[in-house]
Amino acid sequence: MTTPLNRFLWGASTAAHQVEGGNVGNDIWLLENLPDRSGGFREPSGDAVDHYHRYVDDIGLLAGLGLNAYRFSVEWARIEPERGQVSQAALDHYARMADACLERGLVPLVTLHHFTSPLWLAQAGGWDEAEAADLFAAHAERVAARLGDRIGAWMTFNEINLSTLAYDLPDARRARRLEKLRAAAGRRIAADRFSTFLTHGGRAPEVLARAHSLSVQALRAQVRAPVGLTLALPDLQAEPGGEAHLARAQAETQDRWLDITGPDDFVGVQTYTRELFGPEGRLPPPDGQALTLTGWEVYPQALGHAVTRAWSRTGKPILVTENGIATDHDPLRVDYTRRALEGLAQARGQGAEVWGYLHWSALDNFEWMHGYGPTFGLIGVDRATQARQVRDSARWLGDVARTHPEGP
Ligand code: NOJ
Repeated sequence: MTTPLNRFLWGASTAAHQVEGGNVGNDIWLLENLPDRSGGFREPSGDAVDHYHRYVDDIGLLAGLGLNAYRFSVEWARIEPERGQVSQAALDHYARMADACLERGLVPLVTLHHFTSPLWLAQAGGWDEAEAADLFAAHAERVAARLGDRIGAWMTFNEINLSTLAYDLPDARRARRLEKLRAAAGRRIAADRFSTFLTHGGRAPEVLARAHSLSVQALRAQVRAPVGLTLALPDLQAEPGGEAHLARAQAETQDRWLDITGPDDFVGVQTYTRELFGPEGRLPPPDGQALTLTGWEVYPQALGHAVTRAWSRTGKPILVTENGIATDHDPLRVDYTRRALEGLAQARGQGAEVWGYLHWSALDNFEWMHGYGPTFGLIGVDRATQARQVRDSARWLGDVARTHPEGP
């Protein structure tokens, strides 16, 4: 398998719900719009950064920097707003986005599911129901049939392994959280069952694994480009006495999912920081370490470690599908990224096959439960005016891309 379009991919990533705006009809949107008295739910995505209408200019900015790839996601709830009803207009929109990339020399890379599912799927039991896998495979087939060979590489699920997060919560807390969501949803929608990507338990991991496998087959029947998924792979480390917790976290949140990539062409690695384990379990970041706007330890070395681990466990080519930092100090973004790329170069030096590096994110965007506070963008966005500001870090990354066409 050669790299997509036979070049090292230097680019940036976004996800539909985080940038498009007006993205109603999916489960996360419902949660955002629930009343919040306990500090839980939070700033809604609203008009986001209006990428749905501004994608041509945004893609133009990325191309102008010297990048050669753009990863975006398609919103299933726009494409299939009601079960079985397909919006040709939505499919055409994403085909135009891909064309806008190609016209400007960017390889379009598409994620079919980036955290959000249609509301109708959630109301029918979401990923706890076996039929969700078949419905998702039909979505994959539909998108591939329309976008076809424009796309340089396909990702079925973004961070599919986050579906095990619910298992990390103590049972009582998980039950309370689910209860709260069900009660809130019941007030808002006529459904007695409700689940979302973020509240998985039960059968969801198995259903998601099957959805991935079926959708890989559906994609392969339509397109020739490489197919894979992406994983959240923080660099997991143990302090003395934390080895058992480390081993458990690696097995449950990473290795189990690296194992399902068997039929895939590549593994999408997404790494931001490290997570430490001590004798009692997960530890907070060490005292005195700088933190990002999302409260994560600034630890750029994580990327090289995660890539090396994913590569050595799967033997598959790696595409870094996300890496970046939420900061309001742009020189820190440059410093973080430079050090992350040094780690990536080392991983390559040790033999890891790496197809590309995609920074998170192309634009400031809606950071889920944190709202618009944490700014991850190479391109800043003033949400009052939607004006774009190309940051120095963006120009710096573009220069790196231009001067290192073979990768770091
Ligand atoms: C990974 C997720 O894919 C993306 O949606 C999120 O914004 C970034 N991490 C930063 O938290």
